[in-house]
Amino acid sequence: MMNRIFIEAPAKINLGLQITGLRADGFHSLESIFATVTLADQIEILLNRNESGIALECSGIPSPAAEGNIVWKTAKLFMEETSAVGGLTISLHKNIPSPGGLGGGSSNAASVLLALQKLTNCNIDLFKLAERIGSDVPFFLLQERAAIVSGRGELLRSVSLPDFHCVLVHSEENIPTPMAFKLWDEFQGDLTEACPISNYTALKFGVWHEGKPFPVRLDNHFLTLLGSRFPALAQTAEELSLLTVNWGLSGSGPTFYTLFRSEEEAKEAEKHLAGKFPWVFRCQSR
Ligand code: C5P
Repeated sequence: MMNRIFIEAPAKINLGLQITGLRADGFHSLESIFATVTLADQIEILLNRNESGIALECSGIPSPAAEGNIVWKTAKLFMEETSAVGGLTISLHKNIPSPGGLGGGSSNAASVLLALQKLTNCNIDLFKLAERIGSDVPFFLLQERAAIVSGRGELLRSVSLPDFHCVLVHSEENIPTPMAFKLWDEFQGDLTEACPISNYTALKFGVWHEGKPFPVRLDNHFLTLLGSRFPALAQTAEELSLLTVNWGLSGSGPTFYTLFRSEEEAKEAEKHLAGKFPWVFRCQSR
């Protein structure tokens, strides 16, 4: 029986993000297109049926140790809920910055659920577990290249995107997601107007849903909110808009992306942006 598994956990970018309401459970409903990219973390899990406990070893970009890590928490939840027998040794190599708005932690969690289901052969509804772990985990569990995501993050419709190249840049701000949503609750009174539609990537990028062109707004409500409070975000936005119209803030930031159809254009952009930001990474759609 298989006792070792290696899995890649991809990052996502948000092609637009609209916060559409505050739910009774305190979470926000939103509408966004999530698209996975080739930036990824690597996870290896070893199951030893004669042992117990969970050991986690981390490398790459620093991430929380053991019990504090979403990978550890997810593994613990899975083993408890399924009553699976055995000890786990997990290696996590982090390449996705956090907090980044790139879904790194959520993607790690989804990968752990998928891997543990294969290793233990336990039959459990992973989507139910995923929702308990985090709002973005169900998307990664779907293992689609891209999806229109709504509700709290659990309503998923796959969408067909053409291949794209992108350059990710990390502005210097550190904005944890709960803080971004808290600020949204405090200040949304100012934002009575919906963001203007600045461009439609459907025309430039050919986004398809159910056989029809699908209009994509790259606007992100968080940018409107956070840009005026975090100067590095506003500066990054300004810098990127000089380069292309196809740029956006991913999630609640602080990572931005620029999109290109060709690798050459993306390489040019990477050259232009390197040195201006603490982290610049060129990758492409999965
Ligand atoms: O679900 P996740 O752990 O990613 O959420 C982190 C925090 O972000 C939540 O505690 C909540 O405050 C906020 N959130 C929200 N609405 C969402 C997703 C997250 O309010 N759809």
